[in-house]
Amino acid sequence: MTDPKRYLITSALPYANGLKHVGHLAGAYIPADIYARYLRAQKRDVVFVCGSDEHGTAIPIQAMKEGTTPQTIIDKYHQAMKEDFDDLDISFDIYHRTSSPLHHETAQEFFTKLNDAGELETKETEQFFDESTKTFLADRYIKGTCPNCGSDRAFGDQCENCGTTLSPDELINPVSTLSGATPIKKKTTHWYLPLGKHEQFLREWILEEHKDDWRVTVSGQCKGWIDGGLQSRAVTRDLDWGVKVPLKDADGKVLYVWFDAPIGYISATKQWAIDNKKDWKPYWEDKDTKLVHFIGKDNIVFHCIIFPIMLKLHGNILPDNVPANEFLNLEGDKMSTSRNWKLEMRDYITDFVKKENGGGQCVDMLRYYLTQIAPETKDSEFMWKGFQDAVNSELVSVFGNYVNRTFVLMHKLCGGKVPTLHEDVLDDNDKFLIAEIENTKAEVQSAIEYYHFKDALFQIIDLSRKGNQYMQKKEPWIVAKQLAENPAAQKQIDNSLHICLQLCANLAVLINPFLPNTAKKMLHMMKVVDKMLDWENAGKLKLLSVGYSLREPQLLFRKIEDTEIAEQIEKLKSGLIKPETNTKMETPKAETPNPKPEIVYDDFAKLELKAGTVTACEKVAKADKLLKLEVDLGAEKRTIVSGIALHYTPEEMVGKQVVVVTNLAPRKMKGIESQGMILTAEDSDGKLQLLKPENAVSPGSNVS
Ligand code: 2FM
Ligand code: ZN
Repeated sequence: MTDPKRYLITSALPYANGLKHVGHLAGAYIPADIYARYLRAQKRDVVFVCGSDEHGTAIPIQAMKEGTTPQTIIDKYHQAMKEDFDDLDISFDIYHRTSSPLHHETAQEFFTKLNDAGELETKETEQFFDESTKTFLADRYIKGTCPNCGSDRAFGDQCENCGTTLSPDELINPVSTLSGATPIKKKTTHWYLPLGKHEQFLREWILEEHKDDWRVTVSGQCKGWIDGGLQSRAVTRDLDWGVKVPLKDADGKVLYVWFDAPIGYISATKQWAIDNKKDWKPYWEDKDTKLVHFIGKDNIVFHCIIFPIMLKLHGNILPDNVPANEFLNLEGDKMSTSRNWKLEMRDYITDFVKKENGGGQCVDMLRYYLTQIAPETKDSEFMWKGFQDAVNSELVSVFGNYVNRTFVLMHKLCGGKVPTLHEDVLDDNDKFLIAEIENTKAEVQSAIEYYHFKDALFQIIDLSRKGNQYMQKKEPWIVAKQLAENPAAQKQIDNSLHICLQLCANLAVLINPFLPNTAKKMLHMMKVVDKMLDWENAGKLKLLSVGYSLREPQLLFRKIEDTEIAEQIEKLKSGLIKPETNTKMETPKAETPNPKPEIVYDDFAKLELKAGTVTACEKVAKADKLLKLEVDLGAEKRTIVSGIALHYTPEEMVGKQVVVVTNLAPRKMKGIESQGMILTAEDSDGKLQLLKPENAVSPGSNVS
C-alpha cells in the first residue's frame, strides 16, 4: 500500500503467565518498535498497540503452579511485562490488557455480530473430560506426546517443542494437566468458525494479491494451511476463565483465547483513542489505514488466516503485511522455559541496564544485537560471544569510534565549532562520502519499508565505517602539522571535519529508530533539539550550522568485558534443568524417540564438513573419555578434542581419515581449545565408529 493515510502497528499480545525472553523481543517487539519510530520520525499518523493476553488455559495453569488465583497471576505478569518493555524502550502508544471490561465488551460484540449474521456454526462433539476435576480438557489443560516430534510435553493446542499446532485428539497418551488422570470423552456443544468457506478469499488475498510483498516464510506457511484443507475452528471453550459467551444458553462457556486475543488489538486502539481524545474507527475501518502485525512464526495461522476471516466478516480492514519472524535459539539450543534455557528480558535488564555502567547504552546494545541477528528469514542464534563481538567490534570500534574521533578532532583542530565547507576545494574523497550520505538514506528507507531491519541497520553501520575510512584517508591531524608552511591547508581540515560532523548528524537521524538512546546522546553532544531527528533530515548536508559550537564528546558505548560474558554463560549453564527421564511417556515411535524437527536445506547448508587426516593423537590428562587429535585439513591443521578415548587408542587414530565439522564455534575442553568436531556413528552396543570416506581423499576435501 503506497502512502496510506495512517498506520496501525501491532505486536503480538504476550500471555500474562510469565516473563518474556529475548526471543520474543527480537521476534515481535523490537522490529515493530523500529518501524513505529521510523514512521513517527516521518511525521506519519501512527498508533502502535500491544497489551497482555490474559485469557486461555495458560493463566489458570500458572496460577496452579504458583498456588494462587488467575487474577493474581495476570496482575503480576501484566505489570512485570509492561515494566520490562518500558525498560527496553519499546514505545507502545498503549499497553493494554484483555481482562479490561472494554475488551470483554468489544470481543462479545464481535462474536455477536458474526453469530447473528449466521457466520458461525454450532456442533455437538465428544471432547476429553477430567472426571476428577469435572473439567473439559481443552488446549493446555491436556498434554501428551506430540505426533510430530515425539516430545512428551505437547499440549492440546500446540507442541512447544516443534511448534506444530495440535488438537487434543491428535495427542498420543493424553492426560489431564490438572490431575494427571486419563480423561474420558463427553459430549459438549460449541460455536465454530467455518474456515473452509473462506478458502477462495484467502487464496486470492494471500497467494495472489500479496504474493510479492509478504515474506515467503509467511505465505508458504499459509499456503500449507490452505492446501491442507481448512477445517472449522471452535471459537468457544468450556472454561470458567475468559470472556463469557454472550448468549443465554451458553453458561460455563467462554470465547476461545485465540478468538478474543487479536480483538485485543482493537480494544487497545479504542482505549488509546479514549485516552487521547481521538476516534479509533478509521484505524480499523478506513481502507486508507495500513495495518501491520508483528509476530513470531508460531502465530502465523491466527494472524493470516483466522483473524483476517473474522475481520472480513466483521467489516474491518485487513492487515497489509504480517512480517512474522522465525525463532531465536540461545547458545546452540532452543529457548525453553521448562528447561530454563532462556534469557529473559528481566535478566538482561538486571544484569546490564540497571547496573552502574548500564542504562540507555546497554538497552541500545541489546537492541542492536537482536536486530543484527533477527530471525527474519530463518531461525537464528543468540550467542553471548556474538553479543560481545557485535558491541565491541561494531558499536564501540566502528560507530562509537567514528563519532568520538570526529568530535575530538573538531575540538582540537576547529576550536569546538562547526567549520566552513569550502566548495572550491572539494576532492574525490569528500564527494564520495557526501554521495554516500545521500544514498544511504534511500537504502535504509527502502529496507525498513520492506521490513528488512537487519539490512537497514547494516547500511547505517556501514556508513559510519565509510566515515572512518574517509578520516583515515584525509588524516586532518597530519594536515594540521603542515599548516605553518601551508596555511591554505586549513580549508582541507575544515572540509574534512565539516563533512564528518554532518555525517554524525545524519547517523543520529538514521540510527534513531533502532537505537533511540544513542541518537539522544548524539543530539546532546551536537546541542540540537529533537526535531533534528525528523526523517526528512536524513541525507541532508546542512544539519549543523557553520560556526555553531558543539559539546565535548561522550563515549556512546562501553566495551563488554570477557568476564561479563563468562558469567552469563555460566549462569545459563548452571540453571539448566535436565528433562526428568521418569516422567517420559511411552511413544509409539520406538525406534526414533524424539526425532529432531524437520529442517530445510538451508539449515543443512550451514554446516561446513571436510575430510581430514589425523596426524597426531594423545590422551587428554584427567579425562577418561577424551582424545586430543591433530587433524590435517589440507590448507590448515586443527586441534580437535573428541570423546572417543573409550573406543579408539591414540595409536589407532594416527593416519585415519575423519569427517570434521569445521565451522563449529571453538570450545574449550579440559583447557584445550577444540577447533571442530569429528563425526561418529553409535552401534547397537554403544560403540562409536568413525565416519570416514570409503577410499582415502585429499585432506580438506569437501563433504556434502
Ligand atoms: O503466542 C502468544 O503468546 C499469544 N498470546 C499471542 C497472541 S497475539 C494476539 F493475537 F493477541
Ligand atoms: Zn512436537
